[in-house]
Amino acid sequence: GRLKKIVVPLLQWYDNNARDLPWRENSEPYAVWISEIMLQQTRVEAVKPYYDRWLKAFPTLSALAAAPEEEVLKLWEGLGYYSRARNIHKTAKIVEENYEGMLPSSFEALLKLPGVGEYSAGSIGSIAFQLPVPCVDGNVLRVITRITAEDADISEPSTKKLLTEWVRAIVPDARPGDFNQSLMELGASICLPNGLPKCESCPVSSLCEAFQQNKTTDFPVKKPK
Ligand code: ADE
Repeated sequence: GRLKKIVVPLLQWYDNNARDLPWRENSEPYAVWISEIMLQQTRVEAVKPYYDRWLKAFPTLSALAAAPEEEVLKLWEGLGYYSRARNIHKTAKIVEENYEGMLPSSFEALLKLPGVGEYSAGSIGSIAFQLPVPCVDGNVLRVITRITAEDADISEPSTKKLLTEWVRAIVPDARPGDFNQSLMELGASICLPNGLPKCESCPVSSLCEAFQQNKTTDFPVKKPK
């Protein structure tokens, strides 16, 4: 289908345009996990200094598991959503106890860890463990609804499910993490919201139904609750 055609040009674009982000220089599962939990609800620029400080303070999962809770929370101070820090600490202890200190590498096992939902299991699974699984956040929903001109309401869970299945069908077995990050990156830098998409710089505009119809600002459809 139409969507599958975006894979090669997006990966090629990502190779030439990916930002140098600190977590892209460390592919250890522990580092990927920390960065993805931090990035769940916090912007890239805000995460950077916290990520660097964190890995200096707790260079390994074992070091984190052994640290006192108050030290863990102190390093998180300012990032918000503190349950994330408590869940990270809890998970480190669980992984020490039950997985010999190594994060589990299956999607299902990742999903069972405290603080890891569908999105994080997808991003950690694909980036750290090369699992061909989707990870669909708001940026990715915008990219996919524009490419397909899908006008279902993205605030409906059924729509998010449907689009996640579309992405699942195209995530490549080679470089799944880079592919998922290329979708996030396109949403963050080119396929922007608020009527400001930079379609002239988009590597997949020729494959984009909304662009072809001159309707990018109509997507995504999000009905107020
Ligand atoms: N947001 C969530 N995960 C990300 C990643 N790996 N790179 C950039 N932005 C992200």
